[in-house]
Amino acid sequence: MNYQTPRKDAIDRIIREVPRDFHMSGSLSPQVLWRIFELHCQIGAKTSAETGCGLTTLVLSQLSERHLSFTVDFGDSLPNTRSHPLFRSETTTFIVNPTQVSLPGWKFAEPLDFVILDGPHAYPFPDLEYFHFYPQIREGGVLVIDDIHIPTIGHLHDFLRDDEMWEHLGDVDTTGFFQRTHVEMLSPHGDGWPQQRYNRRRFAYPDALNGMFGEGWYEADFGPRTPNSSAPKHVSGAELEQVEAKLALCEAELSAARSALEREQARAKRSEQVVDALRNSSSWRVTAPLRAIKRVFSAS
Ligand SMILES: C[S@@+](CC[C@H](N)C(=O)[O-])C[C@H]1O[C@@H](n2cnc3c(N)ncnc32)[C@H](O)[C@@H]1O
Repeated sequence: MNYQTPRKDAIDRIIREVPRDFHMSGSLSPQVLWRIFELHCQIGAKTSAETGCGLTTLVLSQLSERHLSFTVDFGDSLPNTRSHPLFRSETTTFIVNPTQVSLPGWKFAEPLDFVILDGPHAYPFPDLEYFHFYPQIREGGVLVIDDIHIPTIGHLHDFLRDDEMWEHLGDVDTTGFFQRTHVEMLSPHGDGWPQQRYNRRRFAYPDALNGMFGEGWYEADFGPRTPNSSAPKHVSGAELEQVEAKLALCEAELSAARSALEREQARAKRSEQVVDALRNSSSWRVTAPLRAIKRVFSAS
């Protein structure tokens, strides 16, 4: 029997038998769970970790030899996961504390093959989790970020898509999948923002980095500079004030032009009314033959 068959059967049962609302915090879709299964098998993952818990915990408790879930004990996701018959308690350890508290002090015993971030979603918590997890993920390991439609998580997703430490494997629904490349890890205790592709690409003053990367580095990295591909310009407070003053002036001019237009429209309407009244008057009708004779004479 194929080694993957029992694991596939277990995932199939989780997807078919466990309702999506088996806890109130919201679970990942079957398509996302299948993608997790597929990648987990593809990279031969043995160790995994996630923030939060739920369907993904059932899945990773089945797939991994050792799984960590950093979660909290409010709501129903932890009790419902723990007590579910498809949960394998022998593979999984819960670290029950907000990740904001548990992760900074946590000593990982071994590198991680597979990580899912799906705990607290408010800014900056997923970023904080990323900070604690990225050094732990081995080359070839997979990082999954859920809820990339939330703007601040979308920003993390944008950053990772441009970062050389990660290959973007695509998204399923609102979940992003990344694989750790061979590129040297950014030291979590250092700096080096210009080394990060996301920053280099968007930096408003690329020539200021010539000393670091050599003339023409931008074109070599990103192709020819065009107005559209250049970085969004940083706007200073003074520049912003000037733009706002210009905008206020334009708005005043627009409002004056609108009033003038309204005055002209009212004047035209009044003239039309005078002409109509004249046309409908009996003296206008009585003098009609005279105007006809005048037209004949002026034509001849
Ligand atoms: C969207 S749910 C996770 C769903 C799960 N991945 C699934 O597929 O069912 C979010 C989880 O994060 C947990 N959580 C919320 N705030 C947290 C925090 N500060 N630290 C750790 N976990 C937290 C919730 O209790 C819940 O289990």
